[in-house]
Amino acid sequence: MPNQYDFLVIGSGIAGLSYATKLAIHFEERQQPVRIAVITKVWADETNTKYAQGGIAAVWSEDDSFEKHIEDTMIAGDYLSDRKIVEIVVREAPERIRELISYGTRFDKEEDGDYDLAREGGHSDHRILHFKDITGAEIERALLEKAHSMPSITILTHFYAVDLITRHHLGETVHRYDADNKCFGAYVLNTETGSVERFLAKTTLLATGGIGNIYQNTTNPTIATGDGIAMAYRAKAICKDMEFIQFHPTALYEPGKKPNFLISEAVRGFGGILRNMKGETFMEHYDPRLSLAPRDIVARAIDSEMKKYGDPHVYLDVTHCNYDEFIEHFPNITAYCRDHLGIDVRKDFIPVVPAQHYMCGGIKVNEYGQTNLNFLYAAGECSCTGLHGANRLASNSLLEAVVFGHRAYLKTIEEYEQAVLPDNIPDWDDRGTTHPEELVLVTEMQRELESIMSNYVGIVRSNRRMKRAMDRLGLIYLEHEELYRQSNVSARICELRNMIEVAYLVIKAAMSRRDNRGLHYNIDLVKHEA
Ligand code: FAD
Ligand code: SIN
Repeated sequence: MPNQYDFLVIGSGIAGLSYATKLAIHFEERQQPVRIAVITKVWADETNTKYAQGGIAAVWSEDDSFEKHIEDTMIAGDYLSDRKIVEIVVREAPERIRELISYGTRFDKEEDGDYDLAREGGHSDHRILHFKDITGAEIERALLEKAHSMPSITILTHFYAVDLITRHHLGETVHRYDADNKCFGAYVLNTETGSVERFLAKTTLLATGGIGNIYQNTTNPTIATGDGIAMAYRAKAICKDMEFIQFHPTALYEPGKKPNFLISEAVRGFGGILRNMKGETFMEHYDPRLSLAPRDIVARAIDSEMKKYGDPHVYLDVTHCNYDEFIEHFPNITAYCRDHLGIDVRKDFIPVVPAQHYMCGGIKVNEYGQTNLNFLYAAGECSCTGLHGANRLASNSLLEAVVFGHRAYLKTIEEYEQAVLPDNIPDWDDRGTTHPEELVLVTEMQRELESIMSNYVGIVRSNRRMKRAMDRLGLIYLEHEELYRQSNVSARICELRNMIEVAYLVIKAAMSRRDNRGLHYNIDLVKHEA
């Protein structure tokens, strides 16, 4: 028997939980029984959301204005953002944040009771609401508590979505630009029993987060393997802006450690200064906004400084900051540096490197989070709404997820009753597959993939590097497809399959771009543009 729900939510980060919570509140207020399943591939709180540090952006003080936040977002996105979407997100931000507060999310306040608003790179004003340096963990805690308190929501942990169910599974042929493709739910692997179950639903939301693990250095936890984007692409959804990969300038330099611990951008907002390994400041050679320039510029400056001197990292210097205030704002960062590297931020510089941090592109959605498949929505980091353009402004990601969780909910309640679930959806077919005996192949393919993406499709790209990346990826793809076809489905094998597909989309988009914009920087285009 299939698991049948009204609403299937794949992902329990800020996007998935805010959507599920909104639906539950709506139907519970009307005393209308519905079944909402939230599935998550490991523990419910193991999400990118939990690791967010700096905060969530919104115009909150009277000195600030929507126009300034809109313009900052457009500038960061190198004017490739969709202005209509930027306006929607910026203007709806305060209301969505008030909702998070009403669910019990705490943000730091000043002594007079006003919220303590931080400033980060690319923002022209103080507008970042935060909770210490663990804002994401606080939002995740509050949203999970709220979701657990709602009887219509069932949170299923260790359920791994393998593929979306579409008309293709009914034996019909569908093309990427067909208007009448539909999603009916997903095939989901129960990773504790090893069986693949049909989860049928009138609407499905993909809220599967980022792709960081296609790179060697990333701030993303191990769950970030691009599953939602790859599943959607296989189901003939349209993906967009995949070349725009954001590298955070300041991840802690700890060789061999994955994920990289983040040193929040808010530390530079607080006065932290970047220095090369000789102890010299260098941002004055790259941008008048110095350490507070947008991330793409700072990450490229650090990359260039490291390459110039052959250094493995640069430093972030906070030794001049008021220590009592620093530790008040950044207790988690201070403790991590001390406990893991023996760094005393009062007298030692913090070694930092750029690391993959955020995927600006993803599954293309409209202003209500609808993909090109009927009854399939996407929200959060796996989606591409048009907000970020060529580069995301700091702290706009949590914001986008909560705004689009809400907007997807609005459209869902309008349309879900039109969904008809066919009764001939087949069971998962695993005939002819066996338990893979050589998982070392998966580990090695993963290592090769990370190396290809980091060396050839990272912060600085070239035509030759991208071509080499595509050629090498082609070989890994063929090897993995053979393994996938012969093996019982497992999360590890599926994740690698998804990462290969996402890497393909990144390289393809990067090779197609004919100009350097925001996060995409191809040295051959520099020569061409000069
Ligand atoms: P996530 O929170 O990543 O949740 C993804 C969910 O999908 C998880 O539950 C996962 O288990 C589930 N999932 C994935 N694949 C499957 C599958 N196949 N089957 C079942 N479940 C699946 N942004 C800001 O705005 N401000 C910040 O201060 C900030 N700081 C950050 C710091 C760090 C270290 C990192 C990594 C990111 C930061 N970001 C920040 C970015 C932001 O945290 C993320 O973009 C955002 O949290 C993504 O939320 P999400 O709901 O889209 O996905
Ligand atoms: C950070 O705290 O630097 C991360 C902020 C973000 O990714 O928006």
